[in-house]
Amino acid sequence: MIYLDNHSTTRVDPRVVAIMGSMMESNYANAGSTTHLAGREVALKVSEAIRTIASCLKLDPDVASDELVMTSGATEANNLAIFGVCLHPRQKRRQVVSVVTEHRAVLDPLERLKQHGFEVVLMPVWPQGHDLVGQIDLEQASQLITDKTALVSVMHSNNEIGCFQPIRELSAICHRVGAILHTDATQTVGHEAFNVSELGCDLMSFSSHKFYGPKGSGGLYVASRPSGIRLQAQILGGGQQSNRRSGTIDSVGVVGMAEAMRLAVEELPEATNRDRALRDRLWGNLQSIEGECIRLNGPALHDHDRLARNLNIEVEGIEGQTLMLLCDELCMSSGSACTSAEPLPSHVLQSIGLSADQARCSIRFGVGRFTTEHEIDRATELMAESLKSVTR
Ligand SMILES: Cc1ncc(COP(=O)(O)O)c(C=O)c1O
Repeated sequence: MIYLDNHSTTRVDPRVVAIMGSMMESNYANAGSTTHLAGREVALKVSEAIRTIASCLKLDPDVASDELVMTSGATEANNLAIFGVCLHPRQKRRQVVSVVTEHRAVLDPLERLKQHGFEVVLMPVWPQGHDLVGQIDLEQASQLITDKTALVSVMHSNNEIGCFQPIRELSAICHRVGAILHTDATQTVGHEAFNVSELGCDLMSFSSHKFYGPKGSGGLYVASRPSGIRLQAQILGGGQQSNRRSGTIDSVGVVGMAEAMRLAVEELPEATNRDRALRDRLWGNLQSIEGECIRLNGPALHDHDRLARNLNIEVEGIEGQTLMLLCDELCMSSGSACTSAEPLPSHVLQSIGLSADQARCSIRFGVGRFTTEHEIDRATELMAESLKSVTR
């Protein structure tokens, strides 16, 4: 099996597994049970882990527990950001601005907000062929975002075509009119140099299983500057995490996520360069398959406007689903994991101008830490053999 679906999830690094395994065996107490030593030991590990996460994100570790809410992943973090800001009792504004290419973990909560009387505006993105394909138009953003806008939610990098959004510039636009900026950085954190403080966002979601950590762990950064963000808790109960997210904290998950993030950041930028070289090799190989018309979807590969590990291609005349069935040794995806169970063509690809048929004929690859050059070459051979066997 050749695993080239690292946008969907990643293999947990064995170094992370080791730490989590030993903690499960020995540190099983509840971090909230600080009345006894076992609980205090776990609480200490959790707070050290949160400090590590803060340092990795270039935040101040001394205010880490104020600025980081641990969640079950990016879906929950996005829900907390969107509903937490918009449904806060003191929220008077009734408009939210986002983008057509967001993940469903943003689009679906936004859809729900409409039932609460919110106007949701989804910005389009530049089409295929444009230098800034997949990015929003900042000019348009500055017209749409006004003093009526409660929240702007724009992903940091796209999970299908890997393009980055101009978050820093957007932050200036939002802050001029007092709108809060959330960015879903699920695909960026742990993979590219990332400095939350410099980015200027107020809220930022991340997820451990995208950077070789465990599934079911993630977090939301909530800026404490300048006067804090009013965020209404969405999960109520025992008042853990300063009442912002109740429920016994997943101490093993948080410690595993912190170690995964520490390793990922320590191994940057070499890991990114390695990913880029593997991805470019795959693209080079695929282009040399005879008799096939294979086109690149999304930004050019030669610059830094695209996630280093991301490749998205259209193979003319062959549905991605068909190709995936033929190449069953190859793990790849025909869209985002969350929509690939449905036979719907990708909304992201259609948003950059592909037809529904072209989107159906597209495949997403994501190389990763455990991918080898040999696997890239073998993957291409498998693709070439399968393509030859298809009658069109
Ligand atoms: C951009 C983006 N946001 C959110 C999610 C959901 O993350 P999680 O699986 O941690 O809930 C994903 C995962 O596919 C993603 O790629």
